[in-house]
Amino acid sequence: MSLTQFRALGRSGLVVSPLCLGTMTFGPGDWGVDEAGSRQIFDAYRDAGGNFVDTADIYSGGVSEELVGKFLADTGSRDEIVLATKFGFNGSRSPLAADQDRAGNPHAGGAGSKNIRRALDASLRRLRTDYIDLYWMHIWDGVTPIDEIVQTLGDLVRAGKIRHYALSDMPAWVAMKAATIAAERRVPGPIAMQVEYSLVARDIEAEHVPAAREGGMGIMPWSPLAGGFLTGKYQRDTPRDGGRLSGANPFGDSKFTDRNWEILAVLRTVAHEQGCTPAQAALAWVMGRRGVTSTLIGARTVSQLQGNLAAADIRLTDDQQDHLDRISAPTPGFSASLTGPMIRRMVFGGHDVTGWAD
Ligand SMILES: NC(=O)c1ccc[n+]([C@@H]2O[C@H](COP(=O)([O-])OP(=O)(O)OC[C@H]3O[C@@H](n4cnc5c(N)ncnc54)[C@H](OP(=O)(O)O)[C@@H]3O)[C@@H](O)[C@H]2O)c1
Repeated sequence: MSLTQFRALGRSGLVVSPLCLGTMTFGPGDWGVDEAGSRQIFDAYRDAGGNFVDTADIYSGGVSEELVGKFLADTGSRDEIVLATKFGFNGSRSPLAADQDRAGNPHAGGAGSKNIRRALDASLRRLRTDYIDLYWMHIWDGVTPIDEIVQTLGDLVRAGKIRHYALSDMPAWVAMKAATIAAERRVPGPIAMQVEYSLVARDIEAEHVPAAREGGMGIMPWSPLAGGFLTGKYQRDTPRDGGRLSGANPFGDSKFTDRNWEILAVLRTVAHEQGCTPAQAALAWVMGRRGVTSTLIGARTVSQLQGNLAAADIRLTDDQQDHLDRISAPTPGFSASLTGPMIRRMVFGGHDVTGWAD
């Protein structure tokens, strides 16, 4: 599988590479890359044949979008690149500790119509374009009715300002409701879900994966390397100095659990057998999961990017896949137990009946 083995995202005609360039690292910030480094990463991804670039209004306070807009303009590649960005998080609060008591503008975030339209116009300016190919709700705000979200985003599709929209970081029922409202009202619906998914984060399998299938949405995993943990560059009993998961970071210590070290140990074995890096094996695993259309990769350097892009050519054997599946299997909860083979046998008089979605 190369980056030019394009596939349609969800139930749509939007044709994308199996690995999508995430640009959360573009711009200043603790884990960021300066303009020259970001440009090299962007160019290397395009040189490898990739056509799918993901940013967000909030990344590096808007600088990520500005850099992507500049690189698209400089390379004249707007038409060939599928450009994705996001709205939802509030950028109106100052990052300065001294200002933290001052509340920001509630209309600079969320999924209400007022903010979506404001955020989109600002993103279009920073990205130097007049349309977005894939517009993501970055996070559900827990307040805006799903009807309003579908109405606003569907209207923006019809107005030609966005080609498609999709949903990130939301309960599965929210995505399913959006898809259902859209289908019933014959308005454009969401075509993808962007969710955390990796060998150490498999929660989405219980509800999101079946909902994505039922609703015609492709799955795009984010943090497929768990922020770098699955590269194997952190050692269990050694202080972490350097790398995103060192020092203050949004994940804190959450990736460094006994269970995750066990998963990493099996991943190392599989990678050794394959003659690849743990990062490549981890990416190959997630790319092969049910429902996954395109996987987001983040990189701080060109060599990280190039190493990770090579995962597109790795085929895990059935045994390797099985070994990784078993060691990382999530503890089955109520939702998973409802869809297992045991229930079907109880329902169908002992028969292993299969359905259209199996
Ligand atoms: N929708 C959402 O809420 C959401 C959330 C997070 C991310 N995203 C998207 O998903 C993209 C990818 O997420 P992510 O950056 O968290 O992915 P990730 O692949 O889990 O982590 C990437 C980080 O791991 C390290 N790394 C990557 N490859 C490496 C290698 N071969 N060797 C050593 N270290 C390596 C680098 O950090 P260091 O070198 O600094 O350690 C790199 O920045 C983002 O760019 C963004 O577009 C979306």
